[in-house]
Amino acid sequence: MSTTEWRERLLERMPPELAEEIDIFEGQMELRRKGKIEDRVFAETRLRRGVYGQRYDNGHRHDGLASRELVYPAGDLTKGPETLWDAPGMVRIKVPYGGITPEQLDVIAELAEEYSDSILHITTRQDVQLHYVHIDDTPDLMRRLASVDITTREACGNGVRNLTACPLAGVCHTEAFDTTAYAAALFRFLLGHPDCQDFGRKFKPAFSGCAGEACGLVMMHDFGAIARTSIVDGVERRSFDLYVGGGLGTTPHQAKLLYEDHPVEELLPAVQSIARVFGRLGEKANRNRARIKFLVAKLGIDEFRRLVDEERKVLPHDDRWTSYLPSVEDYTESPVREAVPAPANGAPLPDGYREWLRTNVYRQRQPGYAVATVALPLGDLSSTQTRQLADVARKYVGDAVRTTVEQNIVLRWVAEGDLPALYEDLVAIDLAAPGAGTIVDVTSCPGTDTCKLGIASSRGLAGELRTRLAAKQFELDEAVRGLRIKVSGCFNSCGQHHVADIGFFGNSRKINGVTVPHFQVVLGGRWRENAGSYGLAIGSVPSKRIPEVVDAITTRFVTEREGEESFQDWIARLGKKELGAMIGELKTVPPVDEDPSFYTDWGDARVFTMGDMGIGECAGEVISSTDLELTMAESIAFDAQVALEDGDLARADERAYAAMVAGARALVRTEHPNVPDDPDTIVREFRTRFYDTERFFDRFAKGRFARPLFDRHEAGSPAEHQDEATRSLVEESQLFIDAVHAMEIREAGAQSALV
Ligand code: HEM
Ligand code: SF4
Repeated sequence: MSTTEWRERLLERMPPELAEEIDIFEGQMELRRKGKIEDRVFAETRLRRGVYGQRYDNGHRHDGLASRELVYPAGDLTKGPETLWDAPGMVRIKVPYGGITPEQLDVIAELAEEYSDSILHITTRQDVQLHYVHIDDTPDLMRRLASVDITTREACGNGVRNLTACPLAGVCHTEAFDTTAYAAALFRFLLGHPDCQDFGRKFKPAFSGCAGEACGLVMMHDFGAIARTSIVDGVERRSFDLYVGGGLGTTPHQAKLLYEDHPVEELLPAVQSIARVFGRLGEKANRNRARIKFLVAKLGIDEFRRLVDEERKVLPHDDRWTSYLPSVEDYTESPVREAVPAPANGAPLPDGYREWLRTNVYRQRQPGYAVATVALPLGDLSSTQTRQLADVARKYVGDAVRTTVEQNIVLRWVAEGDLPALYEDLVAIDLAAPGAGTIVDVTSCPGTDTCKLGIASSRGLAGELRTRLAAKQFELDEAVRGLRIKVSGCFNSCGQHHVADIGFFGNSRKINGVTVPHFQVVLGGRWRENAGSYGLAIGSVPSKRIPEVVDAITTRFVTEREGEESFQDWIARLGKKELGAMIGELKTVPPVDEDPSFYTDWGDARVFTMGDMGIGECAGEVISSTDLELTMAESIAFDAQVALEDGDLARADERAYAAMVAGARALVRTEHPNVPDDPDTIVREFRTRFYDTERFFDRFAKGRFARPLFDRHEAGSPAEHQDEATRSLVEESQLFIDAVHAMEIREAGAQSALV
């Protein structure tokens, strides 16, 4: 069907403001085509509509099982940052609080088939992504989504992103109350709001029904609300604890409590006031400092609160702040099937049912009903499966479907008596994998498959780990089964590795002159308590040895665990030194002629050829002095982590700084071998040779990773050592060393792993 036809056919069914938005976007596309809008300007326009450029590996895509060639008639395609504006891209579809209906699933399945590679990908913030979409198809794709009340608006870009919330809201045992109606109201209120159009960076909101569980991951969000109730004059009163300034990425921050026990009536104006303060005072020029977490850290939460209070006082009244409240009480989700009791003990059950029941089914607060999780390996499902799943949902639960931050889909309100039949229906469409929420259910960002910033193949690794763990899942110790693994393709943390028990993020190392994909190992993050604390990096291991890392850690945990000791407590007891030693043995990379597999990434069709690397055959080559110095810098950074763990903030600060100076010295010595060993000279030489010349800059982060070195060098040792600032410096020291490695690789003429 042609564009005009879709537009005309759906006009009546689209919300008018969305329809108009899409027309405007289409107009801008036309101008771009005629060369009347610059690519840079058009990029911002399309990002605000959820249309991302994507990595295009010269026609290959890894789908978690194999690399497949794609035939795509789009002219001169490139991968990396220079992806052509009309090359295949990714469309992110916002799914507020994860709520999605069978009708919507059907439409997305059609779109996936007609415009993309027939795969729907569920993301770590409950969105759905379609990849390999041609820009020309995006307006119609948006229209068809708008006709079922879905928008891609502000799914990317510097605005309010999707709203994340517990998929169990309303049916959960531990929640204070169902946050869905509040979340929906806030989502609608913020969408396209004029006060949310002038941020320097994205703003991600989240809701949780309780403080103790993980679901909404409030502590890692820019803004978050946790439900609570209190009894006032004998009547139950609802309120929220409001948090602000959390985030992951290279400098992870835990959100800070802004308002405790904030009345629900004040939710929308409070967020609007926050948005105004962020819009006015947030960093604009330097993208790397532009998230609200930096503003909150700079001002301090008390000053930030004062500014928000002031803003609230002058905010012009808006009826929408409270007009939704009367209907909140009406918001209910009703089951489509009557509660029938679960099968009696001894009743015949389908094969594999018990295991699935144990890991994938949660008994609701409402007697007789349960939530069933459809576990999606790597968050993917095919368009055919999507349609089939929509039919299954219609049959058992109607519209009660949600996506989860673990990249799964849940069906709520399943009558317990229907569970065996539901299981069989899911088996028939290959969506009955057990192990949801266990170690098998590995989370991963898109990584090098489709993300331009990917360094290592997070999906390749996650797929490999999943396969290996699934094969032995029933033999695994219960304590190990309950752990979570999360993988990001780079330091940006889209796979949320900081909040996993065992997390990994991609980086690379030059070994004997050849680039070898690596993953940094991050241990002991806390998933519960709304992503209550972050793990710390303990060292980088070649990608191909990561399964051994998982084996080593889990085996040791089972052997050494004392009583009911948690993984986090065990990690803390073992200490970074010991953990570092454990993975130390796994850091070695055999020469390429002994084991070439180390020089390729998981599941990637392309071998890292010597020609690609630019540097000659290097098996057996003597390690360069730069590499030696960088290894030393890394061990100083490791010392810093150990000191941090021991609570010795002064030493952690000093070691982190020393590690960065050592990293800078390694670079300076490549050109000035006799540079005096004093920090002033080293930092100055580093600045003039590598920073001012922008040689240190990578395309995306620019010089960002050098700033902490300069700042710490200029400021000297702080008079008082703050926990968060020290922790941040320790992490920065590792990232600085990673960036030195990356520069070395770039300059060696190797094919940059950072493109
Ligand atoms: C298209 C490729 C992508 C790019 C270029 C990208 C870029 C980034 C960047 C730069 C950050 C760090 C943010 C900061 O500290 O300012 C980040 C964080 C994050 N991204 Fe992505 N991302 C991509 C895909 C995704 C996908 C598919 C998801 C899943 C919805 C995702 C979810 C997240 C999450 C959960 C974080 C960490 C939380 C936070 O601090 O925002 N990203 N991303
Ligand atoms: S973590 Fe890195 S590789 Fe993964 S999606 Fe985010 S930016 Fe891309």
